[in-house]
Order: sequence, then C-alpha cells, then structure tokens
Amino acid sequence: MKALVASPGTEASIDLVEVDDPAPKPDEVLVDVRAVSLNRGEVHRLQNAEAGWRPGWDVAGVVVGAATDGSGPKPGTPVVGLVGSGAWAERAAVSTGHLARLPDNVTFEDAATLPVAGLTARKAIEMCVIDGKRVAITGAAGGVGRFAVQLAAQNGAEVTAVVGRPERAKGLPELGAAEVVVGTLPADGEEFTLILESAGGESLAAALHRIAPEGTIVSIGNSSGHPTTFEPSAFYRKAGARLCAFMLFPELQRSRTVTTDLRYLANLVAEAHLDTGIDRVVDGSDIAAVRSAITALLDREVDGKAVVTFGA
Ligand SMILES: NC(=O)c1ccc[n+]([C@@H]2O[C@H](COP(=O)([O-])OP(=O)(O)OC[C@H]3O[C@@H](n4cnc5c(N)ncnc54)[C@H](OP(=O)(O)O)[C@@H]3O)[C@@H](O)[C@H]2O)c1
Repeated sequence: MKALVASPGTEASIDLVEVDDPAPKPDEVLVDVRAVSLNRGEVHRLQNAEAGWRPGWDVAGVVVGAATDGSGPKPGTPVVGLVGSGAWAERAAVSTGHLARLPDNVTFEDAATLPVAGLTARKAIEMCVIDGKRVAITGAAGGVGRFAVQLAAQNGAEVTAVVGRPERAKGLPELGAAEVVVGTLPADGEEFTLILESAGGESLAAALHRIAPEGTIVSIGNSSGHPTTFEPSAFYRKAGARLCAFMLFPELQRSRTVTTDLRYLANLVAEAHLDTGIDRVVDGSDIAAVRSAITALLDREVDGKAVVTFGA
C-alpha cells in the first residue's frame, strides 16, 4: 500500500512510498482509509523525524477486516478512529476501543478532523464547570481552538477567542465567541474560570495573570516554541487557581471513553451542531498538494483543519 512517510531533506519532510500493509492485532480492525487530518503536533514532529517514520493519528474510513477477538464493527462499517502513528496511509489497523461507527450523513473528511482536535477540545474543557463562566481559548483559529470555542459556548460559557492576526478571527463569532482578542490577552481585565492555553511563551504568562481564583489553566501545547517567564506573585494571589498539564493519549488511556466521545462528536456533526472547520482538502496521492498543506499549517495559514484523502 501507499503511505506518507518522513523523508528528511524533501519539501515538508514528507514523501509517498510503498510500505507493507498493517498486520492488525486481535483487538484491531483493518480500515480502508478514506481521510485523515493534519495536527500541528505530528506535523511539527515530522520536521525532525528519522527517514521512514510514519505520521498519522486521525483516521476515517471503512472496516475491511474485522477484529479476530470478536470485538468492534463488521467489514463494511464506516468508522472514525485514532491510532498512535501511521494513519497517513491507504490502510490502518485501529484498536476497537479507539473507534466509533460514523452516522450516515457524516463525511469521511468531516470525521477525520475529530479524533485528536475534537477529543482534545472536549476533554480539556471538561476539566472544570464552565456553565455561565468566562472561558479564554488561545490558538482559537486552529484545529483544537475552533472545536473548543464551539464546545465551550455550547456548554454555556462566555468565550473569548485569542488569535494571532485580525484575519484569523474569521468565523469565530459565528462559532460562539463573544469576544475575539488579537495578539495576547492583556495583563489586566476580567478574569477567566478556564483558559485553554496552547501558544505557550508570553501567552501562557498572560494566562497566569488573567486566571480567576479557583480557576483552571489547561496547558495543552507550546505552538510558539518559546519558554514562559512569569511573575509568581501575580499567580499565587489567585488563590486556588491551578495550572494543569494535558496530554490527550494518557488522558484517553485513563478515561477509556474514546468510542463514546467520538460518537458524541460525530453526532454533533451529523446534527449540524459542530462545524469541523475544514479549510482545505488535498488528495494523498498528490504529494505536491500534501507538502503544500503541511507547509501552510506550519506557517499558520490554515483556518481550522487540513484534510488528506485516500483512495479517491
Ligand atoms: N497536549 C495534547 O495532547 C495536544 C493535543 C492536540 C494539540 N496539542 C497542541 O495544541 C496546539 C494546537 O494544536 P492544533 O492542532 O489545533 O494546531 P493548529 O491547528 O496549528 O493551531 C494552532 C494555533 O496556534 C496559534 N499560534 C499562536 N502562536 C503561534 C506560533 N508562534 N506558532 C504557531 N502557531 C501559533 C495559531 O493561530 P494564530 O496564527 O491565529 O496565532 C494556530 O492557529 C499545538 O501546539 C499542538 O501541538 C496538544
């Protein structure tokens, strides 16, 4: 089968090559992949990966081989799922505990946006009660950010979306943002009960200033790559405020709710309550188009999600 693999020295460090088909374990189904999506974490890692490393966490497609332990869906079932690596390929082996059946009216492209970005947004905003509270989301124009804005607003929060440039605010009020801040949260202003923080550097320092007493900052990333310098006295005066570290895969290992969470997100899409924010779709067999999508994501030019299709 064909797969997108790390290829140092090529544009965007990626190439399309022939690899062995996956060999599913007893609790895994074999999926004919129709769409995957790009996540900043894997795209960033790709830039320094050894030749042959196989990126790919999100997968949407059709089951072509049932799990031999009897768990999971039958061949022919459309599914969305999550794997540890290697999903950017024509076929993938997916654990039956890490996938959900797709509702009939959800496309593979929409489904492929959900696993990492959708689950991260859902799990991170679940970390405190936000109904009627103020919530700030940094990196709001990105994949996780757009899902988080929608899910937080639907859960009753008053959402402040933080973006890097004015044009990145596009569509965010319609998704539920009550306010859009361009740049970094100012040091002074109303406090937030929850801040979903992914930009790191000065953005995390600003969050430590603006969190409410008893509030929660969920740190999910460091898109800026910068370290954070902050004034401890500004933070410890927010008595009871917490800075929580979040990593999706350990969180999913702990909660064991991937199937129900993916089903929940896919149903929201089916009911037109969740916009998947697809900015562009490229064909996985067109390596120039894949490279350009990866470069655009790294250059902060993707509003929402970039999707790669297979088997068109
Ligand atoms: N911990 C976990 O388990 C987990 C899971 C998923 C994602 N993440 C992390 O969460 C972050 C968001 O992921 P994503 O997939 O949503 O990424 P994405 O789609 O690329 O969005 C990231 C957003 O961050 C903003 N940003 C601010 N400063 C930036 C900088 N200096 N460089 C690049 N982007 C910057 C960009 O928006 P503007 O251009 O508007 O500023 C961009 O839209 C990433 O850091 C990712 O690694 C972590």
